[in-house]
Amino acid sequence: MTKQRTPIIDNHGRPLTYVRLAVTDRCNLRCFYCMPAEGIDYLPKKQLLTYEEMERMLQVLASLGISKVRITGGEPFLRKDLIYFLQQVKAIPGIEEIHITTNGVLTEPYIEDLVKLGIKSVNLSLDTLDRERFFKITRRDEFEKVMQTYYALLDSQIPVKINAVVMENQNIADIVPLAALTKDYPVSVRFIEEMPFNGEGQHYPVLTWNYRKIIQELQTAFPDLYKVSDDLHSTANHYAIPGYKGNIGVIAAFSRTFCGTCNRIRVTAQGGLKTCLYGNDVLNVKDILRSGTSNATLIEELLRTFNSRAKNGYEAEAQRPSLLSIFESMSSIGG
Ligand code: 5AD
Ligand code: SF4
Repeated sequence: MTKQRTPIIDNHGRPLTYVRLAVTDRCNLRCFYCMPAEGIDYLPKKQLLTYEEMERMLQVLASLGISKVRITGGEPFLRKDLIYFLQQVKAIPGIEEIHITTNGVLTEPYIEDLVKLGIKSVNLSLDTLDRERFFKITRRDEFEKVMQTYYALLDSQIPVKINAVVMENQNIADIVPLAALTKDYPVSVRFIEEMPFNGEGQHYPVLTWNYRKIIQELQTAFPDLYKVSDDLHSTANHYAIPGYKGNIGVIAAFSRTFCGTCNRIRVTAQGGLKTCLYGNDVLNVKDILRSGTSNATLIEELLRTFNSRAKNGYEAEAQRPSLLSIFESMSSIGG
């Protein structure tokens, strides 16, 4: 593979350095903001990219300057031999950071392996600290296992982020206790606006619990809350409470305030490339990989799509065939 390694700059001047890869569309939870109760139609296994295909794609992306990979799903630990795959990814020249997003149900036994692999951070999806509310939101009684994973991650010294989707009528009472987790541990607790990717459409006509309201709620409970600086490509606005060890992030995922510095692309479980979460699949990577095409041709196609990205999530959404987006589930997009 040629050593380019200088990031590709998209048609809006944004360097592309980060890929989010969904290794499966399957999940062992049924979070109501992600899937209907009966789940989604999972893809036949043959339609998922194989590890070999993902590895080749990452090699090509790394040659184009992508240096950070986030493994997502579905729930990544449902994919067999995930640790083996992570070892392959780690060996790819140019891939400097591997991160994982998990719901934590099956994760705890693998934490030692993740430490050995030098995983840069783990994002744990955890929307509540109350077992009953956890059951109501995820429709599964797995709260204890997720908490065990959380404590084991803190012990392991792998940097931990908690992702909490803020949902009207569901977990508003959790905002303050979740933020309070930052008191004793260097954890980053991030509150995410709910997006309409739940497999059945938008839940409310307007999003009441937008980022401004979340920040207000935090300021009321913690009047000394102060702003801390954000990394250039961060989707979260970060805050902290004096004397607390961790920090608090607020992610305007629905309001889309961060598109101007977006450095990320996504590959869905079925091998579709998205250059925006709110947009269509813009390239069928799986078909290209399975058609016997050379890497040079794949690179040409990738460069073409990187050069025609939507300016932001609103433009990307407007370019979609109508109504399609609302039936998509985050479980196949990968968050
Ligand atoms: N809105 C906001 N965030 C979501 N996630 C999944 N579905 C949604 C949604 N509809 C989050 C999960 C997980 C991350 C990958 O995406 O909390 O942490
Ligand atoms: Fe599974 Fe994550 Fe979707 Fe919940 S949000 S059902 S944990 S993929």
